[in-house]
Amino acid sequence: MSHADSHPGDSGGDGTRRDFLYIATGAVGAVTTGAAVWPLIDQMNPSADVLALASIEVDIGEVETGTQLTVKWRGRPVFIRRRTAEEIAAARAVDLADLKDPGAENKNLPADADASDANRALDKAGEWLVMIGVCTHLGCVPLGNGAGEFGGWFCPCHGSHYDTSGRIRKGPAPKNLEVPLVAFISDTVIKLG
Ligand code: FES
Repeated sequence: MSHADSHPGDSGGDGTRRDFLYIATGAVGAVTTGAAVWPLIDQMNPSADVLALASIEVDIGEVETGTQLTVKWRGRPVFIRRRTAEEIAAARAVDLADLKDPGAENKNLPADADASDANRALDKAGEWLVMIGVCTHLGCVPLGNGAGEFGGWFCPCHGSHYDTSGRIRKGPAPKNLEVPLVAFISDTVIKLG
């Protein structure tokens, strides 16, 4: 299974514009080679304006617990993580008063919904977390698979740490990773948009 890992050794940590572009390109490349959903997207052969409107369906039936599927949607990576029980428990144990961004940042909920994990996960049990894989600081693609000090995602460009709910916990990013419009349309297929 492919992950959204870019090339940690390439970031250098000094955050030039070139670094941002390189990291984003690397991550999208990983999507094209690894994601089972890619042929489905590719068939659409989308022009830019079609892409801007499109909804896509993603089969997540093969995603194993503790792994992340990354798909490209509307020109951006989307992280689809099937969380472990430990990740869910860690996300749900966080005191909301400790959060830098108190908002759910979830397009499926009212704008004033709070950033509790239940307001971020796709399902009630919290197994699935679906987020736009773009750092809310300046747009790099964060590293996943437990990266960073909070066991979720880490953006190497300027050191933003996201927790197992994709909420910003440390570093310059101002907002939690965005949860896009998403819903289950069967037991194993979700629809983005
Ligand atoms: S883009 Fe600056 S920390 Fe992610």
